[in-house]
Amino acid sequence: MAVRSGFTSKFGFVAAAAGSAVGLGNIWKFPFEVGENGGAAFVLIYLAFCFLLCFPVMVTEIAIGRKTQLNPVGAYKALGFKKWSLLGLQGIISGVLILSFYNVVAGWAFGYFLEMVSGNFAIGSQFGEFINDIFRVGLYGLIFMGATAFIVSKGVSGGIEKAAKILMPTLIVIMLLLVLYSFTLPNALKGVEFYLLPDFSKISFPVVYSALGQAFFSLSLGMGALITYGSYVGKNDNIISSAVLITLADVGIAFIAGLMMFPLVFSQGLSTDGGPGLIFVTLPGVFETLGPTLGIVIGSLFFLLLSFAALTSTVSLLEVPVAYIVDEHGIRRNNAVWLVAAVIFIVGIPSLLSNGYSDLFTNFITYIGADSPTSFMSLVEHVANDSFLPLGGCLISFFAAYIWKKENLVAEVSKGNPNFKNSIVGKYIDFAISYLCPIVLGILFILTVLSRFFGINIIG
Ligand code: PHE
Repeated sequence: MAVRSGFTSKFGFVAAAAGSAVGLGNIWKFPFEVGENGGAAFVLIYLAFCFLLCFPVMVTEIAIGRKTQLNPVGAYKALGFKKWSLLGLQGIISGVLILSFYNVVAGWAFGYFLEMVSGNFAIGSQFGEFINDIFRVGLYGLIFMGATAFIVSKGVSGGIEKAAKILMPTLIVIMLLLVLYSFTLPNALKGVEFYLLPDFSKISFPVVYSALGQAFFSLSLGMGALITYGSYVGKNDNIISSAVLITLADVGIAFIAGLMMFPLVFSQGLSTDGGPGLIFVTLPGVFETLGPTLGIVIGSLFFLLLSFAALTSTVSLLEVPVAYIVDEHGIRRNNAVWLVAAVIFIVGIPSLLSNGYSDLFTNFITYIGADSPTSFMSLVEHVANDSFLPLGGCLISFFAAYIWKKENLVAEVSKGNPNFKNSIVGKYIDFAISYLCPIVLGILFILTVLSRFFGINIIG
């Protein structure tokens, strides 16, 4: 079976997969989703989805990846189910869509690093102008996509993951320090309450499907990124313990990000539903209060490390379509990388323009039954994150349980974990992929599409 060129199993799978999982999803998206969706109640639902539904899907993806050593499309074929490679293709399309807007936001983070270096703390209040300075943020996006493509083409992800092992703990330390600092500010407690004391009256169906989309997005699930990365897992490694580590790291970092943000938001008297601008508007002012020198140091470090966290995620997003066209269409890796990166950058241009610059893309579409239009970037997010990823998770678990067959999944996971079948986790995963994931995810997918795009709310 083909092993993708440029990658060796020398660097740890956990580092690569955690690098993919931890990114803008945790630090940028999670806090603003919490803010827009009523606070602690959203956090609870999100946690339940991560552990109960996403974890079994993660184990399944990794097992399929290790078994086949292939991209998502090739993996289903290699297992003998050609028609199911359509599911792989759906994953690849999700990856392309996600990277197209993710790269735009990564460009903002990188731009903010440069602003912090020059001590421009006022950028927080100029966020709106900043993201509409199209040529500048477009250039940052281009640089970001270029860096991603360079890393994927050279197959130097191993080095990146090694660096991440030092840089990510540094980011966590900075965030923890900011948590402590934020607690000393006036009104901090109100923020903690909003974040941790659930108000169940705020739960509506959109809160539920946003939490589901966020869980899949944050854990890099439902599109085959972890099938692709599964080939890095050693044959005798324990898939379960790796998946536990990845999940805990990802959820833990998101949790800290929220704990950092809400006291800051409340102490500055800002609104919790600041949307995608939340961290970009809130944080520079906080860095400013640290004084010019410390502010510049902490501010630039924060956005540099955030860009780095984003880079280990964009690498995994680009790797999926690249592995597909290299394996399945025999295009040389180097050409494949630059071609795919260029296409995705172009697909991302409407997202770049959809934050006020172009009226067409800012007010791109009005869903049936909605009062106001949705931007191109949000449309892509709604389709890819909130709809395609959970659908992918539903179908992957159905595939593993009934098409590939459970015995084969159990046999693969048991390598490196001989007691898996009879363990509590083994029994839970069996139940989850046979019933819980396919049924619950399938129902939620249908209800999400009906509610979001057609305004038909069967529940809530
Ligand atoms: N999990 C990444 C993040 O939280 C985004 C991502 C989604 C990466 C899907 C790969 C696949 O930032």
